[in-house]
Formats: sequence, structure tokens, C-alpha cells
Amino acid sequence: MPINNVSVIGAGTMGNGIAHVFAQYGFSVQLIDVNAAQLEKALQTISKNLDRQVAKAAITEEQKAETLARLTTETDIAKGVANADLVVEAATENAELKLNIFRQLDAAAPAHTILASNTSSISITKIAAVTKRPEKVIGMHFMNPVPVMKLVEIINGYATDATVSETIVTLSKTLGKVPCVVNDYPGFIANKILMPMINEAICSLYEGIADVEAIDTIMKLGMAHPMGPLQLADFIGLDVCLSILQVLHDGFGNPKYAPCPLLVNMVTAGKLGVKSGEGFYTYT
Ligand code: CAA
Repeated sequence: MPINNVSVIGAGTMGNGIAHVFAQYGFSVQLIDVNAAQLEKALQTISKNLDRQVAKAAITEEQKAETLARLTTETDIAKGVANADLVVEAATENAELKLNIFRQLDAAAPAHTILASNTSSISITKIAAVTKRPEKVIGMHFMNPVPVMKLVEIINGYATDATVSETIVTLSKTLGKVPCVVNDYPGFIANKILMPMINEAICSLYEGIADVEAIDTIMKLGMAHPMGPLQLADFIGLDVCLSILQVLHDGFGNPKYAPCPLLVNMVTAGKLGVKSGEGFYTYT
């Protein structure tokens, strides 16, 4: 079944990035969010990010206009997925919310539709289990900022059909991305490796071994990372980092994943990084 129509659920940072990339590569995209103001804001963000691409001659003004013309918005999930060949869910990282959305998607989307989640850590097998089509449920984990980052981590749930996985691999290449297929275990691969590094950086700060600047500079200049781990934690969101560490800790039952008490304290105090204006750094 060819994929032409793509519905993206959630108009936040990841959702607008995913919609941007699919529309840029010629797909007809329905961006769906219950909040109409959020949809308006997402379209403005996509337009601004397309301008960056025009400014560096990566795309033309005409391609920008064509990309925007392929994007429509919708506040009703059932209407928004009625013609979808693929749905990519990028709602808030909350298990109950996602399960609820997948029940609705399963009821409203055509029988052939593949249901993908951009979840960074919630089990694909668990999400698939609330649908009547677990073989068509898969993880399609994009990285932020989506138009820039090359990786798509593809997660096969316990029941994901091999042909569905192959379809998503091919599709990711069509989007100019590099797909990597992994199996469904806590944190998949990206966050099973990234989050312990971030947690160790936070613990190093908590233990007074070095300050924020030294920790980030060592990892940036010593290991050629584009951002130090504390800046990256602010960028991802400290609440998101904490929740992923909890998934790893619960899922593997291994104390090495226990979140650093400083991270727990900062999230409790509402210091969530870029989105709250303060984390390890302050943002204006
Ligand atoms: N859309 C389009 N283009 C964008 C963009 C966007 N949203 N954001 C940045 N860009 C482009 C810029 O135009 C610029 O392009 P050129 O280099 O061709 O001029 C390029 O990206 C770099 O941007 P900036 O110069 O503004 O800033 P920078 O050099 O500091 O790079 C960054 C910004 C790309 C975010 C870089 O710091 C980086 O790669 N950071 C690490 C990002 C990362 O690790 N992401 C993964 C997070 S984990 C995750 O997402 C998943 C999870 O489960 C937690």
C-alpha cells in the first residue's frame, strides 16, 4: 500500500517538525491538534523554519510555498485520519494519553493505515495492544530539531509485521533520513544510551566534581558533541529526561538508571530547561 496521505497528531515541537518534513518531501499532511491556537502557532513555526532553509538555498521560495500548500490542519482526530495511509502520533509523552489516542486512531483510521508513534520511551508493544491492528503499529522516533537531525529510530513492537517495518524504513529514506531499526525494550537504543550519560553529568554536578560550564565544555570539545549534556538536557526538557530515566529504572529494575536527586529536585521546583526559562542555564 503506497503512502501518500500522512496525519500527524500533536502540533508541539516534534509534531510540527514531523509535519514540516513530510510536507517538504511531497506528502499530503494533516496536522491534528485539539488546540486550534497551537495549530496556528505550528504553521508559523514551520514557515519560519522553511525560511531558514530558503536563506541557505537548501530550498527555493517556490518549494516553500508548495510545502505549505501540502499542509492542512484539523482539530478533530476522526476527521483528520479518515484518509490517512500513515498516522504519526507526536502528542505529549504521557502513557495514558497515548493509549487513549491509539484507541481513537484504531477506530477512525482505514483498515490499511499504519499507526506510528514518535514516543521516546513508552512501549510500542503496550500501545499496539490497545488496538485491533498491533501488526500495523510501530515506533517512528524522530530527533529534535526534526528538519535538521538525520536519524529516525524505528521501533518494532512485539507484534509489528516485517512488511510494515520495511515500509517505514523505505519511507524514512524518502524523507532524506537515515533509519535504524531496533526492538522494543525500555528507552529503545537512543535513550537507553543518551539518558545515563545525561544523568551522569547531572550527578557529577550534584557531587561537586565540576561546574555546569566545565562539564559541558569537556563533552563538547573533548568528545565533539554539538551540545554538552546539561545544555542538551535543558533542550530536551528536564521533565522528559526524568520520565525517561524512570521508564529505564522501572523497566530494567537496575539501580544504574536511578535519576539523580538533583534532577528530581529541579523538576519538582519547575526548573524544566528551555521551555520554563530556566534549567542548568537561564533563557530569556
Ligand atoms: N528547522 C530547520 N533548520 C533548523 C532548525 C529547524 N527547527 N533548527 C536549526 N536549524 C538549522 C539552522 O538553520 C542551521 O543550518 P546551517 O548549519 O545549514 O546554517 C543548523 O540547523 C544549525 O543551527 P544554528 O546555527 O541555529 O545552531 P547550532 O549550530 O547551535 O545548532 C542544533 C543547533 C542543530 C540544535 C545543534 O546544537 C545540535 O545538533 N544539538 C544537538 C541536538 C540533539 O542532540 N538532538 C537530539 C535530542 S534527543 C531527541 O530529540 C529525542 C529524545 O528522545 C529525547
